[in-house]
Amino acid sequence: MKYIPEPFKIKMVEPIRMTTEAERREKIAACDWNGFGLAAEDVYIDLLTDSGTGAMSDSQWAAMLTGDESYSGGRSYYHLVENAREIFGYEWIQPVHQGRAAEKVLFPVLVERRGQVVISNTFFDTTRAHVGLAGGRPVDCVCPEGLDSGLDAPFKGDMDVDRLEDLITEFGAGEVAGIVMTITNNSVGGQPVSMANMKATSEIAARHGIPVVIDAARFAENAYFIKEREEGYADKSTREITREFFSYADIFTMSAKKDAIANMGGLLGVREEGEHVPDVKSLVIAGEGYVTYGGLSGRDLAALAVGLVEGLDEDYLRYRLGQVAYLAAQLDERGIPFQRPAGGHAVFVDAGRLLPHIPWYRYPGHALAVELYIEAGIRSCDIGSYLMDRDPATGEQQRAPLEFTRLAIPRRTYTQSHLDVIAEALGEIADRAEQVKGYEITWEPKVLRHFTSKLRPV
Ligand code: F0G
Repeated sequence: MKYIPEPFKIKMVEPIRMTTEAERREKIAACDWNGFGLAAEDVYIDLLTDSGTGAMSDSQWAAMLTGDESYSGGRSYYHLVENAREIFGYEWIQPVHQGRAAEKVLFPVLVERRGQVVISNTFFDTTRAHVGLAGGRPVDCVCPEGLDSGLDAPFKGDMDVDRLEDLITEFGAGEVAGIVMTITNNSVGGQPVSMANMKATSEIAARHGIPVVIDAARFAENAYFIKEREEGYADKSTREITREFFSYADIFTMSAKKDAIANMGGLLGVREEGEHVPDVKSLVIAGEGYVTYGGLSGRDLAALAVGLVEGLDEDYLRYRLGQVAYLAAQLDERGIPFQRPAGGHAVFVDAGRLLPHIPWYRYPGHALAVELYIEAGIRSCDIGSYLMDRDPATGEQQRAPLEFTRLAIPRRTYTQSHLDVIAEALGEIADRAEQVKGYEITWEPKVLRHFTSKLRPV
C-alpha cells in the first residue's frame, strides 16, 4: 500500500534518544517488566497511547499565546463554545480537563438509582469505571463481527441492535439509565460505527425513552470512515457527517486529547439544555472549576477551539487513517495477524495468534509489548487478559475475549520511516516467535492493575 503523504511540514523537532538492546533489557527489568514504569527518555517510538501525544499546529500554538485567562466569561471560552456548537449542533457545551472528567460529572446525574444499567457498544475503561462509581452497571453490547479479529468488515464497532432490544426487554426500560455509543470503538480496535447503526440505536432508545450518549473521543476519524465506507456519504463532508451523527444522540462526552489534537482537555455537550444541565454544572463547579473554564487554562481552551476544526480537515484525516492502514499493510506483508481492518488510531496486533504457545494467563499481549521494547525501543501496551482486573467477587483472573498488543499512533508525530521501523521490529519478533516468553505477575494492586503491576518472565 502506498503511504499517503503528510499534508504539513515540520517546523519544530524533539530529539529522541537511541538506545542499545543491552540498555533496554536493563531498563525494562528495572521496572519489573511493566512498560508504564519506563522513563519516556528511554523509549524510541512511543505507541503507548494516541491521547494528548499529538503535535499541535502553528495555529494552535499561536492561539495559546492569545488565550484569555479570565476566571469567568473569557474570550477563549466563547470561541471554543462557538466552534463546538457549530460542529456538533448542541446547545450547551461544557469544557472539562479531560474525557474522564466529563464522565465523572455526567454519570452521577444520569444514573438515578443504584443498580440501573448502562449499555454500550463497548465502554472504554474510565467510562466503565464512572458508570460503576455512580452506582450503575455497565453492559457491553458490540456486534459479533467486532470480536472476530480475522474478519474484514467495514463497521466492526457497531452496537448489536438486536441484543440491545433484548437487553432492554430483560432489564426493563426504566432500569436502563442510558446507552453509550463509543466512536470509534477503542476497545475493539478503533473500529468505526456506521451512521445506519447510530440511527437504529437512537430509534430503539427513543422508543423506550432512554437517553443516548456519544463517547466522542475519536469522532472525526469515525466520520471519515463513514465517508469512505458507507453508501450515500462519499460526497458529504466530515462536518456534515458529524452533524448528522450527533443529531441521533442527546449528550456527548469527549476526550479532546485525541481528535481535537490538544495535549489536554475535554468536553461535555447537551443537545437541548434541559433538566440535566443544572445538576451537571454544580458537579463541574465543585470538582473542575467555574463553568467557563472547567479546569483548563484559557490557553488550553484556545488550542482546543482550533484543534476541533483542524481535526475534521479531510486532507489531514485521509493522511491520518492512511498512516494506520499503511502500518497494517506492512504487518500483513510479514504475516503478522491483527484486528482487521486497521482501526482509526491504532493497529491491534493479535498477540494470541502470533504467540500461540503463551496461554492467556501468561499474557501474550504483554509479552509482545515487552519484546517490542527490547527489540527496537518501541513502547506499546497489552489490551487483553493482563489489562482485565480480577473478578471483584471471586478474585479470579478474567480472560479477555482477545489478546491484543495495541500500537497507538500519536497524531502528526511520527513519519513513514518510524512506521517501517515498527513493522521491521515486529517481523523480527515473528521470525523467532516461539522463543518469546510469557509473564507472571509478582505483585498487583486491587484495581487497574496493568498500570502498576510488577511482573517477571516465565
Ligand atoms: N473514552 C475513550 C473512547 C477513550 O479512548 C478515552 C481515553 C477516554 C474516554 C478517557 O479520556 O483519557 O481524556 O480522560 N483513552 C486513552 C487511550 C487514555 O489510551 O486509549 P481521557
